Amino acid sequence: MKNIYLIGFMGSGKSSLAKKLARDLNKSYIDLDQYIEDKYGMEIQEIFEKFGETAFRNYEVESLRELKAYEIIATGGGIIEREENISLMKEGVVIFLYASFEEIERRLKDDQKRPLWKQERAKQLELFRRREPVYRDSSDKMIDTTHRPLKEIVAEIKSFILNN
Ligand code: S3P
Repeated sequence: MKNIYLIGFMGSGKSSLAKKLARDLNKSYIDLDQYIEDKYGMEIQEIFEKFGETAFRNYEVESLRELKAYEIIATGGGIIEREENISLMKEGVVIFLYASFEEIERRLKDDQKRPLWKQERAKQLELFRRREPVYRDSSDKMIDTTHRPLKEIVAEIKSFILNN
């Protein structure tokens, strides 16, 4: 089976969907952010604070390459910031989990852990709008997760995977 990469903005549900999909399909899975935190022994926000975003992006590029043994990979929202990540993911199947900006705002209302979410709304929206077409162009399939139960989203991804 090809690697399956879940991409999408912060709060689009990549991690919880990867876990659920892996369980349903009896496949292995990994969360890239979690892998980076374990590998470097630091939380993502600490990496940002101590070394900055560029260093984090370098860790991300390097770590993504180390995860090919896993069948389902939940990435971080900024994975599409580096072209080489997109090329690597295109060797597998890339699924873009879309959620509207308003829905993301609802889901991340109390979030304190994501450095790029902790900024004013205009900046959040700018990031969302800049990335949205990139997720779209980098993926084989887009799934709108806005107002949809997890069960239904999982069923749609499963049917796509099994038919591709
Ligand atoms: C980021 C998203 C985060 C994490 C880091 C940077 C981004 O992952 O990788 O904070 O640039 O959008 P999630 O998408 O899982 O929140």
